[in-house]
Amino acid sequence: MCGIVGYVGHGDTKEIILHGLKTLEYRGYDSSGMALMSNGEILVEKKAGRIENLEESMKGKNFSSEIGIGHTRWATHGVPSDRNSHPHYSMDKSAAVVHNGIIENYQVLRKELEEKGYVFSSDTDTEVISQLIQDMYNGNILDTVSKVVKRLEGSYAIGVLHKNHPDELICAREHSPLVVGIGEKENFIASDISALLKYTKDVYYLKDGDIAVLKAGSIEIFDRDEKPVTREKKYIEWNLEQATKCGYPHFMLKEIFEQPQAVKETFEKRVHNGKVDFSDVLNYEDIKNINKIYIVACGTAYHAGLQGQFALQKIAKLDSATDIASEFRYSDSFIDEKTMVIFVSQSGETSDTLAALKEAKAKGALTIAVTNVVGSTISREAHKTIYTMAGPEIAVASTKAYTTQVTIFYLLALYMAELRKVISKEKYEEYLSEIKNMPEKIQNILDNCEKIKTAAEYFKDRTNGFFIGRGLDYKVAIEASLKIKEVSYVHTEAFASGELKHGTIALIEEGTPVVVIATQKNLIDKSVSNIKEVKARGAYIITVGFDDEESLKNVSDNFIGIPECNDMFSGFLSIVPLQLLAYYTSDAKGIDVDKPRNLAKSVTVE
Ligand code: M6R
Repeated sequence: MCGIVGYVGHGDTKEIILHGLKTLEYRGYDSSGMALMSNGEILVEKKAGRIENLEESMKGKNFSSEIGIGHTRWATHGVPSDRNSHPHYSMDKSAAVVHNGIIENYQVLRKELEEKGYVFSSDTDTEVISQLIQDMYNGNILDTVSKVVKRLEGSYAIGVLHKNHPDELICAREHSPLVVGIGEKENFIASDISALLKYTKDVYYLKDGDIAVLKAGSIEIFDRDEKPVTREKKYIEWNLEQATKCGYPHFMLKEIFEQPQAVKETFEKRVHNGKVDFSDVLNYEDIKNINKIYIVACGTAYHAGLQGQFALQKIAKLDSATDIASEFRYSDSFIDEKTMVIFVSQSGETSDTLAALKEAKAKGALTIAVTNVVGSTISREAHKTIYTMAGPEIAVASTKAYTTQVTIFYLLALYMAELRKVISKEKYEEYLSEIKNMPEKIQNILDNCEKIKTAAEYFKDRTNGFFIGRGLDYKVAIEASLKIKEVSYVHTEAFASGELKHGTIALIEEGTPVVVIATQKNLIDKSVSNIKEVKARGAYIITVGFDDEESLKNVSDNFIGIPECNDMFSGFLSIVPLQLLAYYTSDAKGIDVDKPRNLAKSVTVE
């Protein structure tokens, strides 16, 4: 939700900020803007809509500057418009602020400031910050910002310019991500590291309550009491190429095609000499008293958790449940020191997941994070962290993060099964070999994706559809349905195949697409019956099943085959053609695949 970026140094400030904004655009694309310090004044340019609008409006204007801040917005308070775009000036234009987060007490603060005579020029919560800076300014910008943020309730990562401090970039964070990039005679801030990779891989992650003052040649970090603190310098392994499209028309397609490598790297990070190794995270002592595992996440990460639950139950014989983070927090689930809660989050910043994590930790549970972003807030908050090796995921629709999360769960299930002595050596080796073979099988699907384009051509003209499956296939159906909804705007629902006839079948009419996932071998006959039920009512059947499943081919209008595997592992594979179905449908409809409407990649508000 919103991306912020800032620069101080002797480079081309405008271009560096524009580059950062383009990289962070996935965090929100309702508007963008920047503030540049130029000849003792703060200049602000901002525009509703995509970053190209901002770029266009800045063309031909002279913006020589050695310090600036930028923002790309996902609207919360105030409609997307020029006036509500960030940065926000203080009334006297002495300060400008960019902000990611929500100031929950902004109405009280605004009223107080209006009573003092401050005139607001936006409907945003953020503007109270810039007005407070003007109101509370005491000549010391660190002290002023420190006092201002103490008045804020809610979440914020902010970048601040003040005209009396023309060579200082001030930033602060509380419950919203912020990273400081360390350069050579130049320094940076950003909501996430992808905006910095072009310039530096050395960073500091700020902690909640931190305030940093950046100059071209120095970075000073202070805690909420203004005491100087040191934060660990981290080196980011990701490279710039991973964060660019590399010839693919969209990040989503590139990321779908990166799955063989991402799954392979996630596997290799955890498997050594034929053994799964999570000993840095868990040993027998940690789990011997655990009697319940919850998996908690949002969206696609939650769907990966559904597969995780399946793996933990089937392989490790552990009682597990999956819950949506925003529900889990308020559901009074029974949690104590005998509970393990696994929090899954690609970004490691999702607000609801983070809040649920804090809650579970406070109740004494052992908390484990599964995340893709090193140093992210969730990774730092959990007792232990397992990293997926997906590399940067830029497209709003999550694909490779999902398959790498699923990989982690299956490996974890095997690891726990062995610790608990509930698996034979033969089964352990057989299952490990199944997972090891997944990258090659995913590649095989990607190499043969023509039939999926035909299915997409069919889908693109429809407004409704269904995804159905049984057992593990139902869990994949839920993710496949989300994927097509979010990128192609076709309304679909996922159903357990057997459940459709208990009401929803009334919606099937001539031509309604029904995507059937049918890989569970003991349930194929039942799936065939379910297909016939909907086909008799006019449905157009697209089936995903194992390559040689003749009984399914015979009843399908479009059969998409996936390579043979033990059906306990088929979820690694069956999702891949359906990610492509979502992608091709979106592309055929001319939608901006990587930035579907109303969405943001990282949801850092509740
Ligand atoms: O970063 P997270 O994994 O915590 O994000 C969770 C969801 O917001 C995310 O998976 C979302 O559902 C994706 N856009 C789905 O493609």
